[in-house]
Amino acid sequence: MSSPLATQPLSQAADLDGFWMPFTANRQFKARPRMLQSAEGLFYTDVQGREILDGTAGLWCCNAGHGRREIAEAVSRQISQMDFAPTFQMGHPLPFELAERLAEIAPAGLNRAFFTNSGSESVDTALKIALAYHRARGEGSRRLLIGRELGYHGVGFGGISVGGIANNRRAYTTLPNVDHLPHTLDLQRNAFTRGLPAHGAEQAEHLERLVTLHGAENIAAVIVEPMSGSAGVILPPVGYLQRLREITRRHGILLIFDEVITGFGRVGAAFAAQRWGVTPDMMTIAKGLTNGAIPMGAVLLDETLQDALMHGPQNQIELFHGYTYSGHPVAAAAALATLDIYQRDGLLTRAAELEDYWQQALHGLAGLPNVIDIRSTGLVGAVHLASRDNAPGTRGYEVFESCFWDGLMVRCTGDIIALSPPLTIERQHVDRIIETLGRAIQRTS
Ligand SMILES: Cc1ncc(COP(=O)(O)O)c(C=O)c1O
Repeated sequence: MSSPLATQPLSQAADLDGFWMPFTANRQFKARPRMLQSAEGLFYTDVQGREILDGTAGLWCCNAGHGRREIAEAVSRQISQMDFAPTFQMGHPLPFELAERLAEIAPAGLNRAFFTNSGSESVDTALKIALAYHRARGEGSRRLLIGRELGYHGVGFGGISVGGIANNRRAYTTLPNVDHLPHTLDLQRNAFTRGLPAHGAEQAEHLERLVTLHGAENIAAVIVEPMSGSAGVILPPVGYLQRLREITRRHGILLIFDEVITGFGRVGAAFAAQRWGVTPDMMTIAKGLTNGAIPMGAVLLDETLQDALMHGPQNQIELFHGYTYSGHPVAAAAALATLDIYQRDGLLTRAAELEDYWQQALHGLAGLPNVIDIRSTGLVGAVHLASRDNAPGTRGYEVFESCFWDGLMVRCTGDIIALSPPLTIERQHVDRIIETLGRAIQRTS
């Protein structure tokens, strides 16, 4: 039976009042809803039966495309066999197997996994592990956490504190022991760069200034997205991540890469750490871990971090942290089936194969009105539009809406249009994305 929403006029806002939608202008949405009903391959179908090309892998999640039968079957089998099992003082085989499988594709050394249910939880978990690690080694004064301007690390109190997106922090209390590096978006020097921007590696040196200011003995960790996704696809300047690694290592500071978006093939390797040749001490992951099918996240970490806490009496809990659903059997089954698909279909490196075509196509939009930058790497891209005077974000939203009603799903972050299609995309779909987006940009004054 189809849902009542599918048969009722969508303009009846009363039908939609109950659900307070996340990160959404609720009143604007409910005045003209964009309601999806089914998904298969590269396409959504909305409740009116219109086909919408997925230019965003859902929300950076569905790297293997939609409707993957193997995942559905694994989930269904697992629910029937064992719907839930606690992982506090109990175990079941799937998360152990999943931890091993993740270690096989992660950068060398990151062979321990702590499971969560989301990117936000992964971030807060990684920050806690950093603090617990230093304390266990007798360096308990290392309490300061360093994030970066424009960074997005989810919505937990830890994540918004190290995050650097003003609207996500302003209304809330944030942690006291936090500082930030400058962001690396530099339109003046890097606009329309193909690949990683040439300028800006020196921004990493700001970390030395924070070390001087706060003292290395007080700093626990630096967390950055190797490529900022939510702030509008901000790529790391050539050499930037390497410098961060050198400086953190020199001062005994842990380096955390938030790979919630960049993980699982998005930038052309399993993880951005591998694509750009820098191994952090911890990585936070989620989204593509289960192809978005079931909520799940994880922190992958260097074994030496875990080892540091494996002391004291055997009956002592080493890390006072965990979620009821850590290592949930159904989520773990979904993740294992997802990894099978990624590996069997070569999806972890497919973005590298399509990257040139993708980049070329995207840069074809360069001459269009109001386009002030285009950025891309792997199978991710952004078209940065000039903001209207006194109305930032309105142009981006109009382009996003126009794309949707023309059969293409994109993301807008302010006036930046972000693209991250499923890694199963073919060239003709790339062309279709570019044509539809180009039309929308031209239609929007
Ligand atoms: C880099 C990064 N970290 C953390 C998160 C938060 O993930 P979640 O929404 O699953 O909590 C996101 C979500 O987009 C993200 O992009």
